[in-house]
Amino acid sequence: MKDTAPQTIYLKDYTPFGFVVESVHLTFDLSPNATRVTSRIAFAPNPEATDHKFFLHGEELTLIKAAIDGQPVTPEITDEGLTCPVPDASFVWECEVEIDPQGNTALEGLYMSNGMYCTQCEAEGFRKITYYPDRPDVMSVFTVEIKGPHPVLLSNGNPQVQGEGHAIWHDPWPKPAYLFALVAGELVAHSDSFATCSGKTVDLNLYVRAGDEGKCAFGMEALKKSMKWDEEVYGREYDLDVFNIVAVDDFNMGAMENKGLNVFNSSAVLASPETATDANFERIEAIIAHEYFHNWTGNRITCRDWFQLCLKEGLTVYRDSQFTSDLRSAPVKRISDVIELRARQFPEDQGPLAHPVRPESFQEINNFYTATVYEKGAEVIGMLKRLVGDADYARALDLYFARHDGQACTIEDWLQVFEDVTGRDLTQFKRWYSQAGTPRLSVREEWNDGTYTLHFAQSLAASASTSDPQPQVIPISLGLLGPNGDEVHATETLELTEATQSFAFEGLAAKPIPSILRGFSAPVVLDREVDTAERAFLLAYDTDPFNRWEAGRALARETLMNMATSGAPAGADYLDGMLAVLRDADLDPAYRALMLGQPSQSELAAALAEAGTTPDPDAIWQASETLALTMAQHAQDVLPRILAECRVDGPYRPDPDQTSKRALGARALSLVTRLDGGTQAAAQYSAADNMTLQLSALGCLLAAGKGSEEVAAFYDQWQDDRLVIDKWFGMQIVQAAPDKAAAVAETLTEHPDFNWKNPNRFRATLGALVMNHAGFHAADGSGYRLLANWLIRLDPVNPQTTARMCSAFQTWRRYDSDRQSKIATELERIAGAPDLSPDTTEMVSRIRDA
Ligand code: BES
Ligand code: ZN
Repeated sequence: MKDTAPQTIYLKDYTPFGFVVESVHLTFDLSPNATRVTSRIAFAPNPEATDHKFFLHGEELTLIKAAIDGQPVTPEITDEGLTCPVPDASFVWECEVEIDPQGNTALEGLYMSNGMYCTQCEAEGFRKITYYPDRPDVMSVFTVEIKGPHPVLLSNGNPQVQGEGHAIWHDPWPKPAYLFALVAGELVAHSDSFATCSGKTVDLNLYVRAGDEGKCAFGMEALKKSMKWDEEVYGREYDLDVFNIVAVDDFNMGAMENKGLNVFNSSAVLASPETATDANFERIEAIIAHEYFHNWTGNRITCRDWFQLCLKEGLTVYRDSQFTSDLRSAPVKRISDVIELRARQFPEDQGPLAHPVRPESFQEINNFYTATVYEKGAEVIGMLKRLVGDADYARALDLYFARHDGQACTIEDWLQVFEDVTGRDLTQFKRWYSQAGTPRLSVREEWNDGTYTLHFAQSLAASASTSDPQPQVIPISLGLLGPNGDEVHATETLELTEATQSFAFEGLAAKPIPSILRGFSAPVVLDREVDTAERAFLLAYDTDPFNRWEAGRALARETLMNMATSGAPAGADYLDGMLAVLRDADLDPAYRALMLGQPSQSELAAALAEAGTTPDPDAIWQASETLALTMAQHAQDVLPRILAECRVDGPYRPDPDQTSKRALGARALSLVTRLDGGTQAAAQYSAADNMTLQLSALGCLLAAGKGSEEVAAFYDQWQDDRLVIDKWFGMQIVQAAPDKAAAVAETLTEHPDFNWKNPNRFRATLGALVMNHAGFHAADGSGYRLLANWLIRLDPVNPQTTARMCSAFQTWRRYDSDRQSKIATELERIAGAPDLSPDTTEMVSRIRDA
């Protein structure tokens, strides 16, 4: 047991490690409860360091023996690692430890999943495998020998020896320990190959459990597309003879970019038409791209320390979003990303967990793989590209790869290449990395004799990590429309750098209608008094697809807020505007589907709280239901035509064209279900030959309070497929009526298939409860209580997943005092659980103390 109080680590305290690691040799003798790990590591004094104390991280290791230059030594050991006197010159460290993969339920370090050995080392898991300077700025060349009775033995790099029960791998590229990986098991390979731009052939393998071979083809195609795209768009070629991906069932995250050996949560790579939805296929394509792209942005160039996490994650998210935009629809991808940003990052940035994109301190780094580091980190790169332009962005990236290949870098290094290429001073821009919070942008307009002036003011609320906020550089892409709907001023990007600043447009014949923040050019909240007519106008005429959607979204939000607070019915501007979009067969169905989607109930709760009204989850739910019914009635005549238009003939393909149709079809079906009580949904369910149609039909039925037969049939059909059964757990809870959601979730936690130690199943169940906004926030506190009970139970088994799920409580101060006090009670209860992990302790105390 650890007896240490949580320690805070500060960015300002960074110092280089006292030694360089010239090479690492590891030998693994695999055994479920007693794996032996032998290491031989060549150290040399680091000329760049001033402190030459020899400290190696190590946790939960049993030291068997240690030697320096062949002489046995007895290091001083603590919970965190070891120290030992060492020579003043180069030396070889050898040590043997024993670890217990089978007993490792935290899924960090070397662990077992369904009989297979697997590792997860990012961020600080390697120290649970052997003693090592487990920090990303210590990079070395690894050779790994594996002994074990398994047909497949994998590690990073290229294979050197592969025989029965024995393999040796060598990775020629220096890397930090967090990119180390080892996999051993009875796995089968789906293989292919890729010819790189310089003519090298790379062997590609996707390793899965027997029985999953039929779910590999799509992931493999996505990998080849990613490899090609990175060559064409970023000029990045792959750099090893093999690229291996392994699917594992027990995994805390989505996937991990270990050098040459990516490890994937099976939910993030396995897919077949019968078992995966269109959304699953899209996610798989994006996540394969993301991990592959890390090979250059993360692996070849890595982070100096974990404060620089956005250097690899923000950039790689940005890159995978470009990839998806290129392969699918760019507007649909942009809108989906902004929905996600507002749903996950804005609440974080405006609540107790707010932190800068580059944090300045942390206790547990695992708690900082956040929407802010990832999604806002990617937004910052998008802004930078918008400001410098595409050509200079490309030149800056080329310089970044040329200058920093093989290094562990900082945000300063990253910005420097842009300064060098463009001659710009990015000092002010850098505030996006250091200031927490979502800037608010207010706009006032003035019309005078042919001149139209926009007066902008930016503000940022002070917070714990940003006590004295300063103005940021905000790129505002903007266009102007004439009263007849013509664009009178094409998109231009203004640079707002002052707290208040005005921009004038001259020579206009009539007062224009502005389209501000096109493409969502900055992650800010736009404050502007706009009347319904103007929103309806933009919904009809804006040439920018993002802002056209945004106008509809704003109308929906205002409509729902009014309904939830005063019961006012939906107005014609919204209903007719939506109907026109729905009818417009020239618009991409996926885009129309997004238009038709309502803002989520938690987004509405946030909007109400922002407007100074305490959100009532039941009223918000009721408003959403009523609006859906009203819309269904309003669109009654066109819905059959839409459903027909969205029917797909021929075999299922998860391509943009079919996916788009099914997305709109699903929206239409959910409206139709409000009118026919589920007749057509039941028909779609029985006829479905793919999971997308089957699951959307089931969702409609459950939302209508029907579908008990289908729920039973679904289970019988899919009980042997763990990924489909995750959907079965989740759907019943997400679609439950608010007053039943916690009870449904609780009953499902008693189901024999509720393997709560499996992160996917835990999230499918308890995560689904949180997604049911009014159900989670049930006034009797049953939702809060159930989640807290399970978090307390999971924490000793898997602290990382527990800590991440605590964020469900981050918005608690929005709600009424009754709910607040119920949540406070649960937070108190979690905080008081015996031996609570440092991970969860940090999260609960940050959420509570706000
Ligand atoms: N490097 C991360 C995986 C990771 C996260 C390891 C946290 C350890 C702690 C990986 O590249 C990643 O970001 N994965 C994401 C998916 C991605 C598409 C954003 C994930 O796992 O959710
Ligand atoms: Zn990543």
